[in-house]
Amino acid sequence: MNELIISPSVLSLDYTNTKEQMKELNESKAKWLHFDVMDGHFVPNISFGPDILKAFKKGTDLFLDVHLMVSDPKFYAPIFIKAGADMIVFHTESQDNDLEKISSLLDEIKAQGVQCGFTVKPGTPIESFESLLSKVDMVLIMSVEPGFGGQSFMEDQLEKVKWLYNKRTELNLNYRIEIDGGINGDTYKKALEAGCDTLVAGSYVFKNDIKETIEGLLR
Ligand code: DX5
Ligand code: ZN
Repeated sequence: MNELIISPSVLSLDYTNTKEQMKELNESKAKWLHFDVMDGHFVPNISFGPDILKAFKKGTDLFLDVHLMVSDPKFYAPIFIKAGADMIVFHTESQDNDLEKISSLLDEIKAQGVQCGFTVKPGTPIESFESLLSKVDMVLIMSVEPGFGGQSFMEDQLEKVKWLYNKRTELNLNYRIEIDGGINGDTYKKALEAGCDTLVAGSYVFKNDIKETIEGLLR
């Protein structure tokens, strides 16, 4: 059984108050920090480049969980690894859901000395990626359409979490199961029941008391 980890998404951090919010994060029970990279092409939004990740690397010892929502993760993964990523997760759709392409990109990321994983948009089924499960440190299930914080939790995505949970036992693997999008004081319970061990939470953490909210998710 993996330890429960909270990965606050800094997409929702209040950038007019970065120093104070980072201090609270560093003092909180969060062990990871979720860093959303959006290229304005794979998703209709633009977020952060590698220099911003470097700044977070300087300001925290938290494990940097990088979620690449970009059309060309093969190009960008090494750039974000160099900037300080500890985990790189990319979208299967960016690789045309092609098993060989995904597999070789996972190998490339691994070879650069960081953890790796893949993620699927809500409309992409998960079952066809079974053969890749032995290669990954984590699978991320999107419980909203990627691109924006503050959207509503898509409960039907928990079927994918349950499938991943059962496969992990069946195949005797130990990848993490992370969920991203719409996690709050109600939905996190459903995610945990379905088998998640890693919770991304953006607006819920940063629009409330950071430390207390994170502790609440661990309860
Ligand atoms: C959405 C991002 C999420 C986002 C989650 O595309 O991948 O990480 O920050 O935000 P909330 O928790 O507000 O749904
Ligand atoms: Zn994310």
